[in-house]
Amino acid sequence: MQSPIAFPALALFGLLTAPLAARSASVPSPLSLKSDISVLFNNDLDPGTVSGRPSVLLLSSPHTHGSASSACAVLGETLLPDNTTFIKDNLVPLLRFQEFERNFPSSQKFWIASKGPVCQTVDAKGDVSSSVVCLGSLPVLCTQSATLGAAAKPATSFTVQSKNLTITGFRDQASFRFFGIPYADPPERFTYSTPFTGNTTLNAQSFGPACVQTGETGTSENCLFLNIFTPFIPSPGSRTPLKAVMFWIHGGAFTNGMGSDPTFDGAALTSRGDVVLVTINYRLSTLGFLALDDGVTNGNFGLADQVMALDWVREHIAAFGGDPNRITIFGQSAGAGSVRALTASPQAIGKFAAAVPMSNLAGINFAATYSFYFTIPDNVAKVTAPLLESVGCDLEEAEILPCLRAVDAQTLVNVPTASKFLVVDGKFLVTPELVLNGTGPVARVHTMMGFMRDDGDPFISFPAFHVLIHRQQTTTNLTQALIDVQLPTNVTNNPLFPEPKGANATINTFNVTSNVNTDVEFRCLDQSTAFSAINHDLFESVWFYEFNRSYQIPGFNPNAPTCTPPATAARPHGDPELEYFKCHSGELFYVFGSLPADTPFRDEKDLPFMQRMVDIWASFARTFDPNPSTAFLEARGFTGTVAQLAAEPAWEPATRANLAGRPMRELQFESVMLPFGQQEQCAFLGFPLDFFG
Ligand SMILES: *[C@@H]1O[C@H](CO)[C@@H](O)[C@H](O)[C@H]1NC(C)=O
Ligand SMILES: *[C@@H]1O[C@H](CO)[C@@H](O)[C@H](O)[C@H]1NC(C)=O
Ligand SMILES: *[C@@H]1O[C@H](CO)[C@@H](O)[C@H](O)[C@H]1NC(C)=O
Ligand SMILES: *[C@@H]1O[C@H](CO)[C@@H](O)[C@H](O)[C@H]1NC(C)=O
Ligand SMILES: *[C@@H]1O[C@H](CO)[C@@H](O)[C@H](O)[C@H]1NC(C)=O
Ligand SMILES: *[C@@H]1O[C@H](CO)[C@@H](O)[C@H](O)[C@H]1NC(C)=O
Ligand SMILES: *[C@@H]1O[C@H](CO)[C@@H](O)[C@H](O)[C@H]1NC(C)=O
Ligand SMILES: *[C@@H]1O[C@H](CO)[C@@H](O)[C@H](O)[C@H]1NC(C)=O
Ligand SMILES: *[C@@H]1O[C@H](CO)[C@@H](O)[C@H](O)[C@H]1NC(C)=O
Repeated sequence: MQSPIAFPALALFGLLTAPLAARSASVPSPLSLKSDISVLFNNDLDPGTVSGRPSVLLLSSPHTHGSASSACAVLGETLLPDNTTFIKDNLVPLLRFQEFERNFPSSQKFWIASKGPVCQTVDAKGDVSSSVVCLGSLPVLCTQSATLGAAAKPATSFTVQSKNLTITGFRDQASFRFFGIPYADPPERFTYSTPFTGNTTLNAQSFGPACVQTGETGTSENCLFLNIFTPFIPSPGSRTPLKAVMFWIHGGAFTNGMGSDPTFDGAALTSRGDVVLVTINYRLSTLGFLALDDGVTNGNFGLADQVMALDWVREHIAAFGGDPNRITIFGQSAGAGSVRALTASPQAIGKFAAAVPMSNLAGINFAATYSFYFTIPDNVAKVTAPLLESVGCDLEEAEILPCLRAVDAQTLVNVPTASKFLVVDGKFLVTPELVLNGTGPVARVHTMMGFMRDDGDPFISFPAFHVLIHRQQTTTNLTQALIDVQLPTNVTNNPLFPEPKGANATINTFNVTSNVNTDVEFRCLDQSTAFSAINHDLFESVWFYEFNRSYQIPGFNPNAPTCTPPATAARPHGDPELEYFKCHSGELFYVFGSLPADTPFRDEKDLPFMQRMVDIWASFARTFDPNPSTAFLEARGFTGTVAQLAAEPAWEPATRANLAGRPMRELQFESVMLPFGQQEQCAFLGFPLDFFG
C-alpha cells in the first residue's frame, strides 16, 4: 500500500535506476557498482550460532537513495531492513569497526531500507534516522543472503578486473571467494612454471584440481591454481586502505596436500582477522621435485611454483583488496620447510614482508631433509637413480627426459623413492641450508615461528613406527624403541630422558621416544634457528611459540589415540586440560578457525581459544605483532579475546635480552612466557642452541 507522497518519488527513482536495472543480468563488479564493496560479518566461529548472525554488504561510495536500492538489487539483495535487534547486536560493532579503520567519519550515516515512503539511515551508534526527503548521497548497507560455505550461484557471483584479467568469483556469509585461479600456464613436466597467458576471462567459482599425489582422485598435472578469500574489494581508484595478505603454503611432506583443503578455509581469518587469505597448489613429489644431473633439470619445481604464485599475488592482489607490500607467507610442516626455503631464496627475497614457519622439520632422519638441502648429485644418487630404475628410465642421458615424460603421472608419484626433496639448484636455493650466521642470503622480514609440544609424536620410529605401536611385544622395551628412533646417540638410562612411571608401560615408553623425537626433528633446531637469527640480527622481529593445546585433524592422526585427550564422564570428547600429546598439525583448526561444524568443542575453552588464535595470527599479519590491539578487538566487539588477553602476560618478542630468559610463548588457555625447552637435552643430542652459529 503506497501513500500518495511516495508515488512521485518512486516514479522518479524508477527513471533514474533504469540503466542500472537493465544491467542486472550481468555479473556485478566494483566497476558496475562504482563502489568498494565489503562483506561485514561478526564471526565468533561458533557454528551453532552462525545463522543468527547474518552478514551485510557495505557499498562505501556515496549513493543517492534511488541508486542505493538498485545497487542492492543488482546484487540480488535489498537495502538492509530496519531490525532493532539486528542493528544493536550485529550492525553496531561492524560499523564501529569501519570507523575505527577510519573508512568513515564517526557521524557517518548509511542508507538502509525505507519505512513505507520514509527513507531511513543508520549510524555506528545504531541510531536510525528517518526522513521523507530522500536527499543526499550516502554509503549503502544491503542484505547478504548467502550462507556460510555456500557454493557459488548466479545471484552471488561477483567479478573483479585486475590488469587484463576478468575474474568471476562469488560471496558467502564471510567473504568474497575466488577459487581455482590459474597463476601459471599448465606446466610442462620437469620444467619451471611460466606466467599464465591463457583466456583472460576466468570463472573462479570452484576449486581447481589438486596436484598429482597418492591417495587422492581427481588430481591433475594442470594444477597450478590459487584461491583468494577477501572481505573487501576496492573499486578502481579507491582510497580505502588495502588489507594485509596471508599467503598459505600447505604441508604434506612435499608429496601431498592442496590449497583447497577445507581446513584452510579463509572464512575465519578474513571476516574476523580482516586480512586477505590466499591458498595455493604447487607441484608435488616426483612432478615437483625430480632432479637430474643434466645441468638443466635442476629440481625445485614445486618451490619455483610457490614463487610464481607469489609473483601473481604481488601483481594482482590489490584488485582483491590485498596489500602487495604486506604479504605474510605462512605454512606448516612441509609448508614451513617451504617458508624457510623461500626465506633463503634469492628468487623470493624481497617479495614478502613476514614469514611464519609452523612446525618446521629439522634435525635427524627424514626431518633433516626439510632444512638441509641435497646437492643435485647426492639427490640423483640417492633418489633419482632408484626412481629411474623403478620406472624403466635408467637410460642414456638424452633419453631420460623423454622416457620420464611418457610415464603415467600416478606411477611417478607412487614409486617408493618418489622425489620430494629440496636441492641446491643454484637459482632458487644457493646454499645448503638457511644460513643463520650472517654469511648467506636471508629475507630480512618479521617472523613468527614455533612448534607443537609433541610435534614428533606421529613420526616416531619412522619408518617403522608400526613396530613400536602396533606390535605390543616391543612397545615396552625402551632400548628397542630408542633404536627404532635411530638416534645419533644412546639415551638409554640417561637421567636427561627419564621414563615416566605411569600405569601404562606402552605410554611410558612412548613418552620418552616422542619427547626425544620432537627434540631431534623439531624443537632443538627450531629453537636454534630463532637463537642464531636473533644473535646475528637477521630478522626484523622473532616471535617464538610452543603450542600446548591442540585439536588433532582427523585426516592425520597416526598414533591414535595418543594425540587425543582422554575422555572423562564430563568431557566425553576428551578433556584437553588433562595430559595428552600435542601433536603435529594439532594447531591447524585453531589457526584457521576451521573446526568443522560436525566436530564438537571438547570443553568450554576450545571456542575462545580458537577465537584467540585466529586473532593472534591475523594480528601478526596486520601489524607484525601477535598481540592483537585492544582497540581493534573492542571496536570489533571481540570482548572474549580482550578478556582472555587481559588475564595473561603479553607475548614478548624473542630478543637478545631475553634469549637466556623466557623468549618462548607457551600457547595454551592461559598462555605464559617460558625458557626454550629441553636445552640440555638438545645439547646432548648434538643440537645445541648455537647449532647454526
Ligand atoms: C531481526 O534480526 C534477528 C537477528 O539479529 C532475527 O533473529 C530476527 O528474526 C529479525 N527480525 C525480523 C522481523 O526479521
Ligand atoms: C595479459 O597480461 C600479461 C602481463 O601482465 C601478458 O603476459 C599477457 O600476454 C596478457 N594477455 C593478453 C591476452 O593480453
Ligand atoms: C574464455 O572464457 C570465456 C568464459 O569461460 C568464454 O566465454 C570464452 O569463449 C573463452 N575465450 C576463448 C578464446 O577461449
Ligand atoms: C656460516 O654457516 C654456514 C652453514 O650455514 C657455514 O658453511 C659457514 O662456514 C659459516 N660461516 C662462518 C663464518 O661461520
Ligand atoms: C630390548 O631390546 C634390546 C635391543 O633390541 C634387546 O637387546 C633386549 O634384549 C630387549 N629387552 C627385552 C627385555 O626384551
Ligand atoms: C646405552 O647406554 C646404556 C648405559 O647408559 C647401556 O645400558 C645400554 O646398553 C646402551 N645401549 C646401547 C645400544 O649401546
Ligand atoms: C596403553 O595405552 C595404549 C595406547 O593408548 C593402549 O592401546 C593400550 O591398550 C593401553 N594399555 C593398557 C594396559 O591400558
Ligand atoms: C601443558 O598442558 C597440560 C595439560 O594438557 C598441563 O598439564 C601442563 O601443565 C601444561 N604445560 C605447561 C608448561 O603449562
Ligand atoms: C611425559 O612424561 C613427563 C614426565 O617425564 C610428563 O611431564 C608429561 O606430562 C608426559 N607427557 C604426556 C603426554 O603424558
